[in-house]
Amino acid sequence: MLKLENIHTFYGPINALRGINLEVGKGEIISLIGSNGAGKSTCLMTISGVLHPSEGRILLNGVDIAGEEPHHIVKRGISHVPEGRRIFPKLTVLENLQMGAFLGRGNVRESLETVMGLFPILGERTRQYGGTLSGGEQQMLAIGRALMSDPEILILDEPSLGLAPIMVSKIFRTIHEINARGVTVMLVEQNAKAALRLSHRGYVLESGAITLHGKSSELLDNDKVKHAYLGE
Ligand SMILES: Nc1ncnc2c1ncn2[C@@H]1O[C@H](COP(=O)(O)OP(=O)(O)O)[C@@H](O)[C@H]1O
Ligand SMILES: [Mg+2]
Repeated sequence: MLKLENIHTFYGPINALRGINLEVGKGEIISLIGSNGAGKSTCLMTISGVLHPSEGRILLNGVDIAGEEPHHIVKRGISHVPEGRRIFPKLTVLENLQMGAFLGRGNVRESLETVMGLFPILGERTRQYGGTLSGGEQQMLAIGRALMSDPEILILDEPSLGLAPIMVSKIFRTIHEINARGVTVMLVEQNAKAALRLSHRGYVLESGAITLHGKSSELLDNDKVKHAYLGE
């Protein structure tokens, strides 16, 4: 469904992605793991059109979307939950969610029902300002906002970062549930163990290149992965 072929992305002279090849199948959860600075966020931002690759193709159902603007890519069905959540603190929960629907494709009322079903707490707080929510609730809001565009593919950048353990498991359970409802997921996580346990397949990114990929169960068993990313 989504295929990256030889993607290179630069920040000025800095070559942050050096020929990425990866594939995400319909219905899969894919995890992308790697150390700080490996290029994970750059990879997600290149897919969602925030950054434009200098070389390579990004095929979505066979169509090359590399270089398209972010709002076009949302319309095509890819929704990105950025690192650090970036909700609108001075808008209410409902307004934040409506912003997510603005660029989207689905029916707003149906999408709202889906999001409130996944996150009942957001339904109870529709009139509260985004900035007054806890970190975990803000992450739920960020995910909810991304779902408002009715995506085929949801990409998540470090959704568990800085959250209390109980909230981390809630977020991971929710990602599982979103996937079970038919949304394909691409997940970037520092918490490699939880990400690999949740995902079907994984890719390891080092210094802007994929160095290893395979079934998540195999990566969890791989000595190099264990040593470098699982703290074993
Ligand atoms: N805005 C930027 N300007 C210049 N270099 C950047 C910028 N953002 C990231 N980089 C560099 O690109 C590389 C990849 O960063 P990033 O994708 O954020 O890594 P990760 O998400 O895996 O921690 C790093 O070397 C980082 O320093
Ligand atoms: Mg990052």
